[in-house]
Amino acid sequence: MNAQTVMICSGKGGTGKSTVAVLLGAQLAARGKKVLLIELDSGLRSVDVISGVYGKTVYDIEDVLCGRCEGSKAIVESPLYPGLSVISAPYEGGVVRAAPLARLILAMRDYFDWILLDTAAGMGAPFSAADQIADRALVVLTPDPVALRDGRIVADTLLDHGHAQSAVRLVVNRVTRSSFGPGSAVFDLDECIDTVGLQLIGVIPESRELQKAGAAGTELPGFCPAAVAGRALAARMLGERVPLTAL
Ligand SMILES: Nc1ncnc2c1ncn2[C@@H]1O[C@H](COP(=O)(O)OP(=O)(O)O)[C@@H](O)[C@H]1O
Ligand SMILES: [Mg+2]
Repeated sequence: MNAQTVMICSGKGGTGKSTVAVLLGAQLAARGKKVLLIELDSGLRSVDVISGVYGKTVYDIEDVLCGRCEGSKAIVESPLYPGLSVISAPYEGGVVRAAPLARLILAMRDYFDWILLDTAAGMGAPFSAADQIADRALVVLTPDPVALRDGRIVADTLLDHGHAQSAVRLVVNRVTRSSFGPGSAVFDLDECIDTVGLQLIGVIPESRELQKAGAAGTELPGFCPAAVAGRALAARMLGERVPLTAL
């Protein structure tokens, strides 16, 4: 194995990076891939709950990057999504440093098909460290002008840092029927694409099921619209042609 490393980022906070990271990881795992999801958002830890490993983690990514434990000791398998493993962020403190993160990923590459790096809002240490090691990036945004504007800055930064245009893609999250149209702040998906300057790879609907499963740490029902959208996103990441539908 030689894992593809994908960073998940946004600019604006709360756009659904962690939710989409777990959804993508779960759906890649459902396709038989071995997936490691590393949450880098210290203090705003949420992947442990969404993936169902809450209460099962002894060590976190900070312990690994500081050399307090081996990477393998911090990996916990999701009981909800077989094939998805998680390294949690610390509850507080710690600065993600690029060199030890790169060493961890190089060591883990042989054991996984996909490594997902769930970063924090903005372009601080988690973003910079992931930016230096990731093969691909997903910019997860909600369809509102502030998220899109901040997403543009992140997208331009990634491209300036040498990521190929084809390796940086847009995911529009929390889309509802009223997200777009003449009375909305954003007219359509094309406006999202044009504002951010990235090719679209996924549209995830606003979903009560996704929100509830994430908050409770329970499995997402396999055939709800968000799961279907997640499956399509995973398929496109695997290079398959799946038509994009807004909702
Ligand atoms: N598609 C969605 N439908 C409904 N709620 C969502 C969706 N995506 C994210 N959320 C909710 O938005 C909040 C922030 O999501 P989260 O994934 O933690 O964002 P981030 O990691 O970008 O800070 C959470 O309460 C989550 O349940
Ligand atoms: Mg998060």
